Amino acid sequence: MSGGGGALHPVIRLAPAKLNLTLAVLGVRHDGFHDLHSVMVPLGLADRLSFARAAGSADSLHVLDVANPRASLDPGGFGSVLAGIAEARRAVGRGAETFPLAVRLEKHIPVAAGLAGGSSDAAAAIDGALEAWGAELNLEDRRRAAAATGSDVPFFLAGGPALVQGRGERVEPLAGLAGDPPGVLLVTPAAASSTRTAFEALDTDPAAAPASRGSTRLSSEHLAAELSPGHPPMRAAGLVSRAGVLAVANDLAAAADILVPGLRSLRRSLMRLLGVPIGLSGSGPTLWALYPALDGAEEAAARVRDALRLGLLDSPGSGPPFVAATIIVGPPWREP
Ligand code: C5P
Repeated sequence: MSGGGGALHPVIRLAPAKLNLTLAVLGVRHDGFHDLHSVMVPLGLADRLSFARAAGSADSLHVLDVANPRASLDPGGFGSVLAGIAEARRAVGRGAETFPLAVRLEKHIPVAAGLAGGSSDAAAAIDGALEAWGAELNLEDRRRAAAATGSDVPFFLAGGPALVQGRGERVEPLAGLAGDPPGVLLVTPAAASSTRTAFEALDTDPAAAPASRGSTRLSSEHLAAELSPGHPPMRAAGLVSRAGVLAVANDLAAAADILVPGLRSLRRSLMRLLGVPIGLSGSGPTLWALYPALDGAEEAAARVRDALRLGLLDSPGSGPPFVAATIIVGPPWREP
């Protein structure tokens, strides 16, 4: 995709996926959103966006579905990228010439999967648009633009692990992990999960009530304290040793099991196959396992793919799941 003006070098941004290591839902707010307490980490798995001056008079988006047949499951049609640019333009006001942008989005993160790919794309779109325009926004205005785009968007401004509270707008950076980054196995069934529907189920369906709501909050507070900047740094092995506690620290897990029939059974099968705790990210349906390094996650991914090929694993949805090995990353994740 080439810019119409020719004066602008394409601006490139990586948009990492996120994983919820914990997700406590504290209650419903007056605005209908839910107050959360969640430790989130960015992953090496990332979308890639490039921005150039558009030839026409409106922002445009071209999506390249790189390795992701699940992209057709996106209910929002990747609208978050254009929404992010619109918020950035509103925030800049008359502070710079906010000409129309042509965005190329290489989609690597499964959509509607609990990995916040759309939200990360939106955060990258805000950042990329500002650079393309040569516009400045202070952190407060950047945060406001991010929060206006979606609940998960402000997290991606933190640039690393963070404690996320409120509906997602209160983001406290946590210390990164010391030493080699932990490996993460991701298994995403080919079934879309809507965050809104999961929260609705939590409010209305007694079967979606978390088995242990209070303990999720405690686990989340405990992990946030251990990852706080003043605490001795945690290494990958330390995080992996907590995986059993973290894998059950998601208050949306019962709702996800209802909304994606077969998810609970896949989770049990993965636990049996791999012999490690299996967690759920966000409202799902992505399942995760933690390893001391990338090679452990890669070996696990190979075992899952073998089991799928041999018909030993049943995965819900319209086809085989997305299976990937990645790592937890710290800043910076920008391409130079
Ligand atoms: O903010 P976003 O559009 O990503 O949220 C999607 C939906 O998820 C919201 O409309 C709301 O129903 C639900 N949600 C919530 N509490 C949150 C975040 C999202 O109820 N903290």
